[in-house]
Amino acid sequence: MAYISNMVADLKFEKSEFPSIIVNDGSVSTIEQAKAFVKEHLELLEQELFCTGALLFRGFPITSAQTYDEFFSAFNYPNFTYKESLSNAVRINHTEYVFTANEAPKHVEIYLHNEMAQTPVYPAKISLFCEQAADKGGETAICRSDFIYQNLINVEPELTEKLERVGVKYTTLMPAEDKPESGQGRSWKSTLTVENAEQAEEKLKNLGYSWQWLADGSLKAQTSALPAIRILSDGRKVFFNQIIAAYMGWSGVRDNPDVALCFGDDSSINKAFLETIVKQAELLTYDIAWQDGDVAIVDNNIAKHGRRPFEGERKRKVLVVLGASGKK
Ligand SMILES: [Fe+2]
Repeated sequence: MAYISNMVADLKFEKSEFPSIIVNDGSVSTIEQAKAFVKEHLELLEQELFCTGALLFRGFPITSAQTYDEFFSAFNYPNFTYKESLSNAVRINHTEYVFTANEAPKHVEIYLHNEMAQTPVYPAKISLFCEQAADKGGETAICRSDFIYQNLINVEPELTEKLERVGVKYTTLMPAEDKPESGQGRSWKSTLTVENAEQAEEKLKNLGYSWQWLADGSLKAQTSALPAIRILSDGRKVFFNQIIAAYMGWSGVRDNPDVALCFGDDSSINKAFLETIVKQAELLTYDIAWQDGDVAIVDNNIAKHGRRPFEGERKRKVLVVLGASGKK
């Protein structure tokens, strides 16, 4: 359940209340005041974010990529740039830090994931800003990774423990050229920030990946075993990975999970377990029904996010900033 607070004074620090929605009570009317508000209450906001995993700011005077950039900067997170990331989504930069959310077409659902959890380098925070909501749909789905873990360890203890013990490997296919129509269509050159095949191989080697070049110039790469369940500083275990997005959203994977996913010991992850994971997460998902000007801050370790499909003439404009780096 969401928790709605007018301002920070009555934040609850209640783990079951998700997300925490902070509504401007009218006292913040300029971007300068919004920044001052964040700075003044930073400790409380951080505490609440670590507790529930997501904050949603509503009714604050944030109207453009520029004002969003300023607002997010008030949190003072070290920057994590999209260019340097190993993300395979196609995006466009607006300011140095602000870029478009996944450019996949409106009918495509982006399934729940922890940002860049399929790579060894990922951001600790992800923020989204709704400059313009869609006519219909287009919600950002968010889901608690610690709650998913708790449910899974109850309903499927053996396989969940195995996942925790051996981790997961992802296989991705990076096309020769950017394909914006796909949710994961970033070319190998831009994914790896390289100019040629030799540099790509060098980078993959350093990352501990194995790889194969395909006849059409695309590159198939498999990660080493990455953790699928992590432990937070307060002892909470979180289901931190890209398994749902890979299973549900990557081409052909729902028919044959082996093409993209396996346990860290190279054994197959069976479909029944994958379906259970999807079902448990869906039960815990909260859809942010965007209003223009909303800003969400998501702790990438604690909550997954995704995007619902949308319809209508109005162009959905949701921008993203990543903050701080985590490393496996
Ligand atoms: Fe994402």
